[in-house]
Amino acid sequence: MLPSTKLYHIGFGRDDLGEIAPTLALLSGDPDRARLIAQQYLREARALSENRGLNSYVGRLPSGAWVLSATSGMGAPSLSIVVNELVQLGIRTIIRVGTTGSIQARVVPGEVVISSAALCRQGAANDIAPVEYPAAADPFLTVALAQAARELDVPHHVGITASVDTFYEGQERYDSANPHLLRWLHGITEEYRRLNILNYEMECGTLFKMGGVYGFAAGCVCGVIAQRTQSEQIAMDAKGVAVERAIRVALRAAEKYLASQPMA
Ligand code: URA
Repeated sequence: MLPSTKLYHIGFGRDDLGEIAPTLALLSGDPDRARLIAQQYLREARALSENRGLNSYVGRLPSGAWVLSATSGMGAPSLSIVVNELVQLGIRTIIRVGTTGSIQARVVPGEVVISSAALCRQGAANDIAPVEYPAAADPFLTVALAQAARELDVPHHVGITASVDTFYEGQERYDSANPHLLRWLHGITEEYRRLNILNYEMECGTLFKMGGVYGFAAGCVCGVIAQRTQSEQIAMDAKGVAVERAIRVALRAAEKYLASQPMA
């Protein structure tokens, strides 16, 4: 039985969806991105809730399939709550549409990274699965994301992402309010670079582990908005194109993935 009453954090329930039973959610960290996806890219979109900054919308893909555009908030603890509640409502596929900092010279702002797996350095994930549990994206959803990027001519990279809990310390930023970066974090970005990790972000490791444990398909596409081989700063001039590309790739992949699924 799906809960009909509103779920506490996301602020909507089965009753708010009426006859509509979306099984796929596009999940943005930023509530404004969730609203942008709904208003500019989905048909017949309407708001389900704007609760605690966890804005959620429902609308149709060009194919006609209903999907959610929801907000995870920043970081894995918030994402874990939203994902748990979305799955309670019948969501079985989640595509994170995020932003990221590149740690490889060849991955440049404006491009997108599709995460095939994550080095998961996140406390929330340890409440869900053992630390050694693989943080792997759904392979079919990942292929759909890569094919979508190719079809749309979006410059993209597929590979491993470092998914960490903090934007400043955990991503080895020295230019912050913290005067003392812990010793073990000094040089971590260079180490990850040598391990062929593509990028830093803050949610997909826990999302992937949740997908494995709960049994839903998880994928992640992020627009590159920082190039950490050059600077700790966000490349604001590249953010618009990076986010727009990540959204278009996610939407095309959602259509492809849903079309490949056997009818329930
Ligand atoms: N998101 C991150 O987690 N890190 C960045 O550098 C940019 C976006």
